[in-house]
Amino acid sequence: MNSAIIKGTGHYTPEHILTNADLEKIVDTSDEWIQTRTGIQERRVLNGHNDIGLSGMATNAARDAIDDAGLEPKDIEAVIMATVTPDYRLPATATLVQHNLGIGRVALMDIVAACTGFLYGLSVSRAFITCGMYKNVLVIGGEHLTSITNYEDRTTCVLFGDGAGAAVVSRGEPSDNGRGILATYLAGDGQYKDLLHIPLGGSKNPFTNDNAHLPGRHVHMDGREIFKLAVKEMADAAEHVLEQAGCKPSDIDMVIPHQANHRIIEALRRRLNVPEDRVYSNIQSYGNTSSASVPIALDEARRTGVVKEGSLVLSTAFGGGLVWGSALYRL
Ligand code: COA
Repeated sequence: MNSAIIKGTGHYTPEHILTNADLEKIVDTSDEWIQTRTGIQERRVLNGHNDIGLSGMATNAARDAIDDAGLEPKDIEAVIMATVTPDYRLPATATLVQHNLGIGRVALMDIVAACTGFLYGLSVSRAFITCGMYKNVLVIGGEHLTSITNYEDRTTCVLFGDGAGAAVVSRGEPSDNGRGILATYLAGDGQYKDLLHIPLGGSKNPFTNDNAHLPGRHVHMDGREIFKLAVKEMADAAEHVLEQAGCKPSDIDMVIPHQANHRIIEALRRRLNVPEDRVYSNIQSYGNTSSASVPIALDEARRTGVVKEGSLVLSTAFGGGLVWGSALYRL
């Protein structure tokens, strides 16, 4: 069987910064509450830079990932875009990225798996590559979350930010020995669909003149329930991939989890029993960027030398659906 290795990564976040102090002026909250309960200090927002949209952020992240992999857009044979905030309901954002970058007429698809979207994309890319169908697959996680955020709801608006991250997953060579995506695990359960959802704007409850201004057009979340389930299922998903690959938590060089809340990350760390310096977190700078959070963190960790070629990395994520999953990979 072919191996599938992460050959290059990239990320893009908007320049505009929304701080906790800025949010104090918008809703009844405080820097102290936000930092204590979530770990977030600031987040990046497309506000004022809407012209590039999600597809623009995804394009920038993807361009860097292709470059980092030492490839050119023409080498990419499939584009998998994970997002819940596409520029349009039709067409798929993957088609916009393909066109922006001058990628050929290849397989283009969007995946809707919320915060777990990038790991779903990684798993699909691995399947494409190990079965011999493609050699180079571009996987992107990107969100314009502030476009679906209700800035009158303090329980959610302090959490979310915008950004995109990308990876090129390629067929490994014998000389890459030991590198590659070693195991993935994907799961979900639709019984929890109302815990984190956008009630309006789909084909079941389409926008009308009467409802288009209602809060139902934004994200609704039961934060407390999500919190409990996230800790349990992210840890469970992590154990699945460790078991599949025959590894122990002590083998992991770095856990790069979905960045939803520093308390969720800390609870996960304790469950996995890994030391603090083996868990990567950048939630203070970006907040929760949903499907973008893992690839942004992975790219940052690679570029700053926190992880390097040969590092064993575990990523695990959880989000609306509910869907969750994990991946274990040697860089
Ligand atoms: N500022 C100040 N007070 C706030 C607030 C804010 N931004 N948001 C909520 N509060 C208040 C609540 O109204 C509540 O007040 P009450 O006790 O008077 O009713 C109090 O703080 C505690 O609320 P609670 O919801 O229990 O807080 P929490 O400790 O669970 O933290 C979240 C809330 C949202 C930060 C937390 O539940 C969380 O991170 N959940 C996961 C969310 C997530 O990541 N979702 C994405 C998918 S992974």
